[in-house]
Amino acid sequence: MPQLNGFSWIFLILIIPSIQAAYDHYRLPTALEPLHYNLRILTHLNSTDQRFEGSVKIDLLTRESTKNITLHAANLKIDENRTSVSSDQGKNDVTKIEINEVYNFYILHLCQELEKGQIYQLEMHFDARLNDSLSGYYKSNYTDENTKEVHNLAVTQFSPTFARQAFPCFDEPSWKSTFNVTLGYHKNFTGLTGMPILGCQDHDSLENYIWCDHEQLLRTSTYLVAYAVHDLKNAATEESQTSNKVIIRNWMQPKLLDREIISMEMAPKLLSFYENLFQIDFPLVKIDQLTVPTHRFSAMENWGLVVYNEDKLPENQGVNLQQQKDRTAETVAHEYAHQWFGNLVTMKWWNDLWLKEGTSTYFSYLALDSLQPDLTRGERFIALDLGTFFAMDSGGTVPAISKEVKNSSQILGQFTEYVYKKGALTIRMLHKLLGEESFFQGIRSFLRKYSLGNVDQGDLWQSLQEVSKLNGVIPVDFNLSRAMDSWTLQGGYPLVTLIRDYKTGRLTLNQTRFYQGKNISEDSHCWWVPLTFVRQNHPDFEQTNPQFWLECPSATKVLQLPDLPAADKWIILNPQVSTIFRVNYDEHNWDLIIESLLNDHNHGGIHKLNRAQLVDDLMALASVKLQKYDKAFDLLEYLKKEKDFLPWQRGVGILNHFGALLRGQEAKEFKIYMQKLILPLYSRFPKLAALSSPAIKDIPLLQFVYSQACCYHVDDCINQAKILIMSNWNRSQVELPSHFQKIAYCSFLEEGGEMEFQKIFSLFQNTTNSAQRRIFASAIGCSRNFKHFEQFLDFTFKSEEKLFSDCYMLAVTTALSREYMVTPIGNYILSNAKILGKKFKKKELKGLLVSLAENLQSPEELEQLNVHLKDLKEYEEPLKEALKLGEINQKWHKDCSSDFSEALRKRI
Ligand SMILES: *[C@@H]1O[C@H](CO)[C@@H](O)[C@H](O)[C@H]1NC(C)=O
Ligand SMILES: *[C@@H]1O[C@H](CO)[C@@H](O)[C@H](O)[C@H]1NC(C)=O
Ligand SMILES: *[C@@H]1O[C@H](CO)[C@@H](O)[C@H](O)[C@H]1NC(C)=O
Ligand SMILES: *[C@@H]1O[C@H](CO)[C@@H](O)[C@H](O)[C@H]1NC(C)=O
Ligand SMILES: *[C@@H]1O[C@H](CO)[C@@H](O)[C@H](O)[C@H]1NC(C)=O
Ligand SMILES: *[C@@H]1O[C@H](CO)[C@@H](O)[C@H](O)[C@H]1NC(C)=O
Ligand SMILES: *[C@@H]1O[C@H](CO)[C@@H](O)[C@H](O)[C@H]1NC(C)=O
Ligand SMILES: *[C@@H]1O[C@H](CO)[C@@H](O)[C@H](O)[C@H]1NC(C)=O
Ligand SMILES: [Zn+2]
Repeated sequence: MPQLNGFSWIFLILIIPSIQAAYDHYRLPTALEPLHYNLRILTHLNSTDQRFEGSVKIDLLTRESTKNITLHAANLKIDENRTSVSSDQGKNDVTKIEINEVYNFYILHLCQELEKGQIYQLEMHFDARLNDSLSGYYKSNYTDENTKEVHNLAVTQFSPTFARQAFPCFDEPSWKSTFNVTLGYHKNFTGLTGMPILGCQDHDSLENYIWCDHEQLLRTSTYLVAYAVHDLKNAATEESQTSNKVIIRNWMQPKLLDREIISMEMAPKLLSFYENLFQIDFPLVKIDQLTVPTHRFSAMENWGLVVYNEDKLPENQGVNLQQQKDRTAETVAHEYAHQWFGNLVTMKWWNDLWLKEGTSTYFSYLALDSLQPDLTRGERFIALDLGTFFAMDSGGTVPAISKEVKNSSQILGQFTEYVYKKGALTIRMLHKLLGEESFFQGIRSFLRKYSLGNVDQGDLWQSLQEVSKLNGVIPVDFNLSRAMDSWTLQGGYPLVTLIRDYKTGRLTLNQTRFYQGKNISEDSHCWWVPLTFVRQNHPDFEQTNPQFWLECPSATKVLQLPDLPAADKWIILNPQVSTIFRVNYDEHNWDLIIESLLNDHNHGGIHKLNRAQLVDDLMALASVKLQKYDKAFDLLEYLKKEKDFLPWQRGVGILNHFGALLRGQEAKEFKIYMQKLILPLYSRFPKLAALSSPAIKDIPLLQFVYSQACCYHVDDCINQAKILIMSNWNRSQVELPSHFQKIAYCSFLEEGGEMEFQKIFSLFQNTTNSAQRRIFASAIGCSRNFKHFEQFLDFTFKSEEKLFSDCYMLAVTTALSREYMVTPIGNYILSNAKILGKKFKKKELKGLLVSLAENLQSPEELEQLNVHLKDLKEYEEPLKEALKLGEINQKWHKDCSSDFSEALRKRI
């Protein structure tokens, strides 16, 4: 203690607040480095008692002398009397404990300074209840179907910042450490961690309890540590064909054992695929795959203990929808890609979350297409992501994928669709840009170099740049990091304008940010845009290495291509839409493209992703008045000859979006136009009622064709739907193919009255299969009568079951796409806003308001929405988004809808 007593006492009082202020940074201090954790957790799990007690011993290396230990802890009861800090030299006393609630810091102030270079051991004891909030160490349960007994289980979810709720720790991804985990539990249960068991012994006081030591886990981040105590069943034990012969077990509740278990089938194949792709062996000896009844996310890639959410699995009782299976397969492939991207090499901080999520999303697509090429799932997912991305990121509201985040809720908020999808498209861009060989060489050298370490995005750029320069794929003086930063450190995407001089052959190019609903030239954002040209006389869409770059800061670029392209042949920029930008061409080039799509064999050899993008671009350009709708509709005519799913899906998706904004006569004409557009495609396929079991690969296109044809009232489609349903009901041996049930029931309800509604409604209430229930719910959204629909809303709203509330949202969003339902549902939402706000999550409310705003037409309606909801806290963020979208749509309605309708009218 310092001398002058009285004085220092006053001094202390003054200094306490300023200690807190002095350390108000959101990251842990770097003075101490955790090297190793010994973690012991005793789990109590019976019908009356669900909690855990634990202790942690952390070896700390002092990198800078310090008098405090700052780490994370939240929602734990820490027994301060048993906290100790010691080293070979002896014990150090804790003089004071401080807590920072904002960042969950737990700060131990010490009597003596920790000396630089020394290793200390921090020991802490703590306990807590197993919580219900799906974070940290939480509890879950299932009911045995035969005995009706409830079985409890306990499992961890530490990502992104929840490890601190299970034990005090340095809960940042860059503090990688090794972990020895010992679990104590009743013998009725199985205990799992990321590593195999070394040995078990009886608990010295609790009867029938054991303690089991697990092998040491590799250096890893806290968010990837996992454990569970449960009595789930192992469906099968598998062994991978990979070098390490990894043992894979598959745990789930008994009733799931007879389902198709996609994760079990895929896991060994995925390990082989990724080992081959990345040329690095999977480093662990076992993986337990644990399917749990409740989980915060779809799945979690914990090292050695991958966890899946039971809710997201396909069901087996007759309704086994391919889309759901595809998504599950994608999830599994995604979690296994994480074993390398995320687990082996980890981002330093959550700002670069996309480094693991974008890569894992993209590599999962490659895995799917490699494991089952005929299903083309990866390709379809990329096409969908492109469509989503171009639409979503044109409003100016979506942030950069790499952006600083500080507290837990901001970090959690980083896990957005946007980070995953734009992240995936950014990795794809590098793949296309650098080519197969350099891209994978770079990826492999990146993984090798940073194995068991941490990175930021600059490290990835660097690895790719080194290899690409060596291979001569990019010029030696090219700065790949600077170029790629322009894609990850800002939101939005560019519009490139390409003007050809047909006399001299010169090309003039410039770029600007593409905005929907805002003046386009008012922006100084720019990107490094790779330029790859394809010419009509040699339509090679496989060659995706750039020939030139548009630079940033940007200037108009004038280019003379080698061998002058002929004036009567098109040029197309950006083969396969390798990079995320739109292109506008001069009139003549557009005409050449349209002509070729319409009349040339095989659409002039233009790649299907480019065909989809040309439709998307021209419609987008017309919506901001940079092109005429007349030209866009000229281009759309080509769809009548299109056989591929991707351009159809994108084109009709966009048309539906604008069509929903039309009313009265314009809406009628739109419907006629859509019928005419779809009819030629529809007539190429077998009748709905005569469809036996189609090949899996054909299902997406078939669903698309029938759903659009029935939606736009192609008579034959509606008759077929009715025949199908009636013959199923009259003779129950006629099976309703599950993939087409939604379409058939929807059409049946839309055309039907009271009787039809009551029938479907009672089917909805009676079924226990949740996939089947969702099908009925979205069909009920097709009902024409709001009084009927309201019955359904009241019923589902009152239900406490979670599944019913999913159905509620599904039906409402379906119904909102029908012109005649928008107003009554809008009124219903407004008058029930308060209770809806309490019942649903923010994400669901956002979905609800966005679908409402998408379909509102008048400024008055939008204003009404604002007035009713602006004081309700739950709606704050969803409302902002919905209003923004509503404004964009109304601007379109005011500025463009008459052009749109006029162009359309000429073609009906
Ligand atoms: C649950 O476990 C606690 C001790 O952990 C014990 O006191 C209690 O009796 C148990 N209850 C039941 C119903 O087994
Ligand atoms: C703890 O020590 C670190 C490193 O010496 C220092 O940066 C930090 O301000 C200290 N924190 C508090 C609350 O005193
Ligand atoms: C810690 O020790 C103090 C003094 O011996 C005692 O009063 C207190 O109850 C102890 N706290 C706990 C949680 O055991
Ligand atoms: C089982 O879990 C659900 C949440 O999924 C919870 O609402 C319920 O109370 C739990 N049942 C028991 C008996 O713990
Ligand atoms: C263990 O299982 C037995 C037999 O099923 C049961 O009676 C007992 O209550 C279980 N104990 C715990 C702690 O789950
Ligand atoms: C951790 O466990 C390993 C065995 O897997 C053992 O060799 C090592 O000594 C343990 N480390 C500590 C600090 O207890
Ligand atoms: C790009 O070029 C087009 C066509 O020459 C021109 O209309 C547009 O204003 C230019 N945009 C910018 C941002 O320079
Ligand atoms: C639903 O169940 C009720 C009672 O079990 C039954 O009366 C009714 O016929 C069922 N409805 C349908 C459509 O199957
Ligand atoms: Zn992920």
